Amino acid sequence: MNVAVIGTGYVGLVTGACFAEFGLRVTCVDTDADKIAGLNAGRVPIYEPRLDEFVRRNADAGRLRFVTDVREAVEPALVVFIAVPTPSGEQGTTDLSYVDDVARAIGECLYGYKVIVTKSTVPVLTAERVRQIVAASAAAAGRAEVPFSVCSNPEFLREGSAVDDFMRPDRVVIGAEDERAVEILKDLYKPLDRLEVPFVTTNVATAEMIKHASNAFLAAKITFVNEIANLCERVGADVHDVARAMGLDARIGRQFLHPGPGYGGSCFPKDTRSLVRFSQDLGVRQRVIEAVIEANEAQRERMLAKIDEMTGGVGGKTLAVLGLSFKPNTDDIRSSPAIDVVRGLQRRGAHVRAFDPQAMRNAAAELAEVSFCKDAYDAAQGSDALVLATEWSEFRGLDLRRIRAALLRPVVIDMRNVYDRSEMERLGFRYSGVGR
Ligand SMILES: NC(=O)c1ccc[n+]([C@@H]2O[C@H](COP(=O)([O-])OP(=O)(O)OC[C@H]3O[C@@H](n4cnc5c(N)ncnc54)[C@H](O)[C@@H]3O)[C@@H](O)[C@H]2O)c1
Repeated sequence: MNVAVIGTGYVGLVTGACFAEFGLRVTCVDTDADKIAGLNAGRVPIYEPRLDEFVRRNADAGRLRFVTDVREAVEPALVVFIAVPTPSGEQGTTDLSYVDDVARAIGECLYGYKVIVTKSTVPVLTAERVRQIVAASAAAAGRAEVPFSVCSNPEFLREGSAVDDFMRPDRVVIGAEDERAVEILKDLYKPLDRLEVPFVTTNVATAEMIKHASNAFLAAKITFVNEIANLCERVGADVHDVARAMGLDARIGRQFLHPGPGYGGSCFPKDTRSLVRFSQDLGVRQRVIEAVIEANEAQRERMLAKIDEMTGGVGGKTLAVLGLSFKPNTDDIRSSPAIDVVRGLQRRGAHVRAFDPQAMRNAAAELAEVSFCKDAYDAAQGSDALVLATEWSEFRGLDLRRIRAALLRPVVIDMRNVYDRSEMERLGFRYSGVGR
């Protein structure tokens, strides 16, 4: 089967490489000619564990191609995935202009039946919008009679483990209005049958809703534990013990109960805003998620206040910041709490010495006047305090005596609770974590 994936970013490239790994013939398209030229020269543009190996193997086998021309990908394809950005527009609305452009382009080269699938995270009812745009564009090109289906197949992969998540998903959600499209999509995912991956087949609106509800729930879970952590700090309770005991209740579950600087990344912030906004537009408020967004923003400020307090005011001081990506194992810095904290420190007059194992190139494009360092020890050198912002595993194994010797003052603000307070105090640090 021929598959086209339009948009070759974190989701599109992983989707393309993994479908090719399933044995399908995949053509990935992107408007970014440099990205496509790089991929054709064997350069994977993002850091994602195992992705380069998947891309290389399947490109070498001739199953995975990269092009800039939509027509070249769409014409031979039975299934066309849309994996372009859906960023926040004005007042939380989703900017659907990329999706609209792609829908128009698909309509223009609709020569035979195709299943068109939105993999981008979109507001409910977007598939219907795509259907209308494709139909209008096909009609304008004189192909009004060519049949097609529009489906929703939301993506749940996590950056940092995207390839593994795609190859072993918790579930595959297929939203479709016709049986033929469902069968084609199930066929596409057939290799997952042997892993007994559950398929949830619904109508299109339900599939679109599942993605938004899932992201909003996860954002709420993180925010909930952050608010409990803030209370724990005031009453001498340890949020990790609270979270562990809560999580042992199967109704609650253990994951996503880790306190920190608040959620970030390219999905939760924009998707929660989008849910709130499109719900409002439909006259159905999402009060819980409105509060989640507000509390999450406040958590960033809380972290800055904590750093201020621990350093006696950051103005004029030098701060070492470890980790810049929004979470470990990715180079993605979109809405990263670490980046927000760096900016907040700079606004308060601090100088920042930063280190991240993979995200410094992206960070350098966003941040001015940061000293990018060669490792954690270099960042600590001569700094007035150290802020652990993103919990890359290499930071867990640091030689803390060496860190202490490098710092001007032995102050550590651990926004991810990576270190053990008593151990840190034994080593002579003034230490502050979150919620304990
Ligand atoms: N990143 C994630 O973890 C994740 C997880 C699940 C869902 N999603 C959703 O998937 C979608 C894509 O996210 P991403 O992180 O992969 O974005 P991204 O920015 O990494 O990649 C998008 C790519 O689309 C390309 N593009 C833009 N317009 C195009 C067009 N008209 N034709 C062809 N290519 C075009 C861009 O050049 C870019 O390479 C978003 O809706 C996002 O919400 C992302």
